[in-house]
Amino acid sequence: MNKIFQDKVSLVTGGGSGLGRATALAFGRERAKVVIADFSNEGGEKTVKMIKEAGGEAIFIKTDVSHCEEVNELILKVIERYGRLDCAFNNAGIGQHPSLTAEYTKETWDHIISTDMSSVWFCMKHEIAHMLKQGAGAIVNMASGAGLFGVPGMSAFSASKHGVIGLTKTAALEYARAGIRMNVICPGPISTEGNKAQVSAHPELELEAKYVAIVPMKRFGRPEEVAETVVWLCSDAASYITGIAIPVDGGMSAQGFTQED
Ligand SMILES: NC(=O)c1ccc[n+]([C@@H]2O[C@H](COP(=O)([O-])OP(=O)(O)OC[C@H]3O[C@@H](n4cnc5c(N)ncnc54)[C@H](OP(=O)(O)O)[C@@H]3O)[C@@H](O)[C@H]2O)c1
Repeated sequence: MNKIFQDKVSLVTGGGSGLGRATALAFGRERAKVVIADFSNEGGEKTVKMIKEAGGEAIFIKTDVSHCEEVNELILKVIERYGRLDCAFNNAGIGQHPSLTAEYTKETWDHIISTDMSSVWFCMKHEIAHMLKQGAGAIVNMASGAGLFGVPGMSAFSASKHGVIGLTKTAALEYARAGIRMNVICPGPISTEGNKAQVSAHPELELEAKYVAIVPMKRFGRPEEVAETVVWLCSDAASYITGIAIPVDGGMSAQGFTQED
């Protein structure tokens, strides 16, 4: 532990589980004051407890990031409590049940787009407003390998993640001279609660074996491997890096995300 975020304030959305929790713990280890936003009370409070037990500082603010006004309230509460916001990991999101493009209901489509893409814009909109006043800040958004390639049966999810990449790159250009860096990560399959639930919901698709088969490293990633990438991107060690989309995927994107039928 190098305490590289001492006196800094980090926000992690979806911090009550999986990649958000692993990243919140990593920020806590580096002594950031960590704000966990999630709509799961139980998960959010558990992450706070884990950070405090490790000697860090954290609070939980219940938020549904798919509602712009709730996100506005979240950021106002962060500023009210700590007076600043240095880093944000806009991570909260959902997977989807496989569906062909023409077979989505409008409700399902809207739900995925609002949770996986619009939510990221809501967060950026309110985070940037405060970071501009500080003249500094670092934002990392969550996309996916599905934001780099098409994935049959996942068009809403893939469209959302492609959108997050375009949004991040564009905003990074707009705010490059304002001292705010913005990057996006594109994980391959990572062992999280969310991923396990998706895999086990469709045993007939044998998704676990299929994922392992298409990853050159022949294994799922660990949440900590994503967390370390996010913390590094938010740190001064990445001070000249903005507007990039980084795969964290065991080499999957290097081979073009080859998929079996
Ligand atoms: N795991 C992977 O293989 C993988 C790969 C690529 C990208 N990703 C992306 O990584 C992100 C996190 O995934 P994960 O695997 O860590 O999932 P996870 O274990 O399900 O964690 C996601 C967390 O976000 C919360 N959440 C969902 N919708 C929310 C909303 N509208 N407002 C606030 N919180 C919300 C969930 O709450 P509930 O538990 O109450 O639903 C959960 O605590 C997602 O954006 C996902 O698309 C994951």
